[in-house]
Amino acid sequence: MPRANVNEPAILVENLSKTYGRGDTAVQALKNASLQVAAGEVVGLLGPSGSSKTTLLQCLGAITDPSGGRIRLGGQTLYDNGWQYSNRRALRRDQIGFIFQRPYLIPFLDATENIAILPMLQGQGRKQSYARANELLDTLDIRHRASARIEELSGEEQQRVAIARALANHPRWCWPTNRPPRWTASAPWTLCGCCMKWRNGPTQR
Ligand SMILES: Nc1ncnc2c1ncn2[C@@H]1O[C@H](COP(=O)(O)OP(=O)(O)OP(=O)(O)O)[C@@H](O)[C@H]1O
Ligand SMILES: [Mg+2]
Repeated sequence: MPRANVNEPAILVENLSKTYGRGDTAVQALKNASLQVAAGEVVGLLGPSGSSKTTLLQCLGAITDPSGGRIRLGGQTLYDNGWQYSNRRALRRDQIGFIFQRPYLIPFLDATENIAILPMLQGQGRKQSYARANELLDTLDIRHRASARIEELSGEEQQRVAIARALANHPRWCWPTNRPPRWTASAPWTLCGCCMKWRNGPTQR
């Protein structure tokens, strides 16, 4: 991977395009989309349903293949008319916190396990991974549901577990694609509150 340029924005998107499918049924979701985000900036992406918000974030999260253009994260090229980052699985696991539109939690694990599995996949010990999960359960105000199975959680509680999972490995970038339950920074467990806390004091690796 090329060397990082520290003077660049944290996120730089240039002329990004994404077409789903081909032929008569092709959907051009992104056409020359460009975006710059400075380090520490919290940006909200607003637009009507179908305006490709999720598509853009999934490309930035190295989940969906763009069709063309360029993405640079932290001054390093992630995509330039093709992926430039060889181990995208490790990138997603270690550096990107992705909050999907649906929670996508693992149904046979409880709330704590759904969070702790991320540090464990990174190679951290069980004790440290569970401590991190408990810290996030506290932050998101769902520690009392720590042992609950996913099907026993309310929809919003599931979203909170999904937010905790996204933050478990102290990501450098966080892409929340869901609508926040309540858009306020005052409640610490809302998406906005978590982003603010995460931006103001990301815990060290
Ligand atoms: N896998 C796919 N195959 C084909 N078309 C798709 C696929 N995923 C999304 N699209 C289409 O691409 C466009 C953008 O979808 P996307 O999910 O990015 O929109 P969105 O802005 O996130 O919408 P919402 O606010 O409803 O979540 C839509 O027209 C959608 O139907
Ligand atoms: Mg969406």
